[in-house]
Amino acid sequence: MGFDTLNEPIPEEPVDPNADLSSVLPLTAEIRDGRLWIGGVDMVELAREAGTALYVMDEDQIRHQLREFRKWTTYHWKDVETVYAAKAFTCKEMCRVVHDEGCMILCASGGELAIALAAGVPASRVQCHGNNKTPAEIREAVEARVDRIVADSLLELERISSAAVEAGVKQPVLLRITPGIKPDTHGYIQTGQEDSKFGFGLNHGLAMEAAKRACELPGIDFAGLHMHIGSQIFALQSYTKAIEVMVEFMAEVQRETDCPVRDLDVGGGIGIKYGLADEPSTIEDFGKIVVDGIKHECERHGLAVPRILIEPGRAVVANAGVTLYTVGTMKDVPGIRTYVAIDGGMTDNIRPALYGARYECLVANKADQPRTQVVTIAGKHCETGDLIAKDVPIQDVETGDILAVCATGAYCRSMASNYNQQVRPGVVFVRDGEWRFVVRRETYDDLMRCDVG
Ligand SMILES: Cc1ncc(COP(=O)(O)O)c(C=O)c1O
Repeated sequence: MGFDTLNEPIPEEPVDPNADLSSVLPLTAEIRDGRLWIGGVDMVELAREAGTALYVMDEDQIRHQLREFRKWTTYHWKDVETVYAAKAFTCKEMCRVVHDEGCMILCASGGELAIALAAGVPASRVQCHGNNKTPAEIREAVEARVDRIVADSLLELERISSAAVEAGVKQPVLLRITPGIKPDTHGYIQTGQEDSKFGFGLNHGLAMEAAKRACELPGIDFAGLHMHIGSQIFALQSYTKAIEVMVEFMAEVQRETDCPVRDLDVGGGIGIKYGLADEPSTIEDFGKIVVDGIKHECERHGLAVPRILIEPGRAVVANAGVTLYTVGTMKDVPGIRTYVAIDGGMTDNIRPALYGARYECLVANKADQPRTQVVTIAGKHCETGDLIAKDVPIQDVETGDILAVCATGAYCRSMASNYNQQVRPGVVFVRDGEWRFVVRRETYDDLMRCDVG
């Protein structure tokens, strides 16, 4: 579901030119002297000094989100871990911030694990998942002694067990279960339904077979169950329904095996506000629904409440980020639309092309002016679908302006590519009036680093 035909006229929806963008901007965002400031740093000055395209992340907001998840989950039950899903955005400094805030890190690959360990995060605060971990990735995780590996298949259970026996340990493992729930989100980011490449389904006895096998294998310490039903979920009833199914299965496992289910991991997926019309739930509501839901279901089945794990990614970082670009060429197609081209595009933000994702934008050097124009923000790459925002309201924009695209802290840098041999932008953390690169911009030498010809 990328952008459809471009030859259609701009929709005639009324847009409020004075709409307040603060709900999609980082918490510390403010307008001073007509410019956008974040973390006490002037975005126009930052763009001049650090160059564009540039990802900017508000460190205070990242810390705030992590604290909110801890606060509103442990408020309802003492034994809850917030395990930040590194896939949303990771680098060594990000891992340090997560660890410093008392949260764990969830890695989806050997590369994410290597970054977390290189950042100095103890392996006991790291978990690993993925639907097809390579034998090498499994060995690396076992040898590092990570807290949990989430197993996705019987083959993986065997491989984890062998690696653990070889290392002389018993590896704690969670089983990824697909509870058969379809949340209200884009099809590409629904993951908990029966027809999915992930995990063990409940319908054909596969999940129970996996639980029994996990209890028998010599290198496995069967620690519990895991689910992740999707991403950008607004309706919290999807979690309630999935929790009912998971706790029911927990009870069956307790009945049919000797292994107590010590952990129940409900995954991530809590939605965020990309557009002004989006109405995601609060972290407070998420904590209540998930933790109370598990407590209630456990009570109903006469089970002890397990350690609860939550795995937010997007909700920790998305609204903490903006991407800054410099406006280049502009093209007016009479009667159709105006294209405003920037010095980046689908290489630094693939989400509009991939999911039809929508973003709000503003001109950082005209931040106090009304957004009276409607334009389409186009990238610089050789694809018609290389658009960052289609038909968005914006200030009176000109070549040389600094464009800020809001809520780009999640799944933008981490999904970035070098298509057209574009160098990937750096990432700057801002805080208390200071800024620092936590990931530097790539150079042409970086592009050729692996080119051995
Ligand atoms: C297993 C698992 N946990 C957590 C997440 C994080 O999801 P989100 O960023 O939507 O919170 C994902 C994302 O795909 C995932 O696959």
